[in-house]
Amino acid sequence: MLADLRTPGVRFPAYNHCPLFRQQSGVDLSRVLNDGAVSTPQRPPVLEEWYRRQLHRAEFDISSSGVQPYSFAELRRIAGIEQEDLDRVVMDDSTSQGPQELRQAIADRYAGGRADHVMVTHGSSEAIALTLATVLEPGDRVVLPDSVYHSLGHFVRERGCAVRTLPLGPLSQGAFPESVLDEVITPGTRAVVANFPHNPTGRTLSGAGYDSFVRRVAEVGALLVWDAATAEITHGTEVLPNPAHSYPRTIAYGTFSKVFGLPGLRFGWCVAAPELIEATFALRDRTTLFLSPLVERIALHAMRAAPRLIGPRAQQARRNLALVDAWVARHPDSVAWQRPQGGVCGLLRLPGVEDTEAFCRELLDRHGTLLVPGTAFDLPDGVRLGFGGAERELSEGLARLSDFLRTRESRR
Ligand SMILES: Cc1ncc(COP(=O)(O)O)c(C=O)c1O
Repeated sequence: MLADLRTPGVRFPAYNHCPLFRQQSGVDLSRVLNDGAVSTPQRPPVLEEWYRRQLHRAEFDISSSGVQPYSFAELRRIAGIEQEDLDRVVMDDSTSQGPQELRQAIADRYAGGRADHVMVTHGSSEAIALTLATVLEPGDRVVLPDSVYHSLGHFVRERGCAVRTLPLGPLSQGAFPESVLDEVITPGTRAVVANFPHNPTGRTLSGAGYDSFVRRVAEVGALLVWDAATAEITHGTEVLPNPAHSYPRTIAYGTFSKVFGLPGLRFGWCVAAPELIEATFALRDRTTLFLSPLVERIALHAMRAAPRLIGPRAQQARRNLALVDAWVARHPDSVAWQRPQGGVCGLLRLPGVEDTEAFCRELLDRHGTLLVPGTAFDLPDGVRLGFGGAERELSEGLARLSDFLRTRESRR
């Protein structure tokens, strides 16, 4: 039976997640997940597998890297979308790169007005996949940050690139020491991947740290792959500019899934040189083709309403972060928290907890509260705590987490 499931070129571990295989072999998924699946491209990423299996069980989700999602009614009200406008949409094919008007709206906000540098995609995940699969070649030297978001790492590894890790440890006061940048970003590097604010830690660069980082990438002439998923929410630091403005060899990604509160629209984009965008069509024409014209129409309105969508959610996230600060201060012996400087999530370390996946499963089973185990990011000693949601959900989730920590303490 197993042989029937195999496809040429796909190696055996791919089917460790296939329920059919599990039933036959008795392989325990939780053990498979614990075995460091994060860097094994043939398996689904731990993060998505976790949500697929656990999200529906959560009463209080305090795990997300995005803000509280808007309902369609809220979006229509905030962005002023009229029913008649949607009714005029014809359910025809759209175009690979996206309609001019929509690309212009994105470019006005993120690409210095250059609509030909913008391509719209099904979430930024598609932009990541299309661009990295197009520009990278086997053997290319690529710098990846520590504990990188799975798609960014996956396509680099899948192309057979030689990976060099940029550790986040030395990042101090928003800057990497020059010696670290020089040591990791060396001449001959093909691409440097960056995600600031970083998911899941919320660590980011200061203005000066950004300048020296981009300068070093430019010195070696590498492509700068810039994932700005949560760039527009910061906590005490400035919003970093899109490096594509100053460094043309940049591929930048954006998304509605995080700070816009519209993950269900599945809308993202990349900003890159027009030749690079065109080069992705070879793959796009054979896979996803184009977006729905209805999604594109809604996205146009949402993009024009960006400050009105992002603003209230950014304020909510900042108020929530103060709640988290206060909560952390009440649990000095059981948690350690490096306060995020951007985005809406951070890594909560749990000293003394050896298996954070088991911890998260038990928290969910007993208290209906969802966190993400750090194994999803190769950070097994912590959990991702998201504070972008509704205030009541966060407070209740944290209260339940307190109860759970207390129970565990009393068991010792
Ligand atoms: C850093 C980062 N980049 C990209 C994505 C992909 O998001 P989407 O495809 O929803 O735009 C995510 C989603 O979690 C993310 O955290």
